[in-house]
Amino acid sequence: MEVIILPSSKEIGALAADTIEDLVHNLPRAVLGLATGSSPLPIYDELARRHDESGLSFTQVHGFALDEYVGLPAGHPESYREVIRREFTNRVDVAPENVHGPDGTATDIAAACLAYEEAIKAAGGVDLQILGVGTNGHIGFNEPGSSLASRTRIKTLADQTRQDNARFFDNIDQVPHHVVTQGLGTIMDARHVVLVAYGAGKAQAVRDFVEGPVSASCPASVLQFHPHATILIDEAAAAKL
Ligand code: GLP
Repeated sequence: MEVIILPSSKEIGALAADTIEDLVHNLPRAVLGLATGSSPLPIYDELARRHDESGLSFTQVHGFALDEYVGLPAGHPESYREVIRREFTNRVDVAPENVHGPDGTATDIAAACLAYEEAIKAAGGVDLQILGVGTNGHIGFNEPGSSLASRTRIKTLADQTRQDNARFFDNIDQVPHHVVTQGLGTIMDARHVVLVAYGAGKAQAVRDFVEGPVSASCPASVLQFHPHATILIDEAAAAKL
């Protein structure tokens, strides 16, 4: 695990964008793992800027979302499929048919999860997975207690996560209780993982997953076993290391 401390989210976004730009230059058909939440936004802003200003192109890139709420209707502005379109893929030239996400509206969720795993495999696996981290150490929506070997499946959100994510909805009652998420085993299959975190609110989670024991109680700690994990954080998020 390589931990890099940078002055602000802007530098973090720029460094992550450099890594993605290099990947896409060397491998135009790269498969990107796309995360939601506020943490990856500076990366998407920077990639969109480079697309507009220097022609960085994603025409052959495939994108796979990490997770999705269960029960939000297709097209709901807070469904992660919509967030990823709005914040990233619609701002660059990724082909819409190359953007995939777990299906939170399927009648047979288990079959949809299996199909999603197969789709990732068929695309050749994820080359670079972007990640944020929850205040309770979750990655994707793998809440504390998730099996370190888990695959894409349905999960129940922790109260803390529903409270954290209520800011994206009118009130907490609108935050779904269930989600589908790539498992920790699925995330560990990515060839390179880039996790970004900023602010004092993430300091305890960062300490726990970087320096604490590898444990299902802190799902992000599984990244200590990843052969190529890059952790980009600001001073505030690094304060408890
Ligand atoms: C959500 C997402 C995670 C994300 C986390 C942190 O629960 N499922 O992928 O990492 O929130 O969000 P933020 O970056 O807004 O702090």
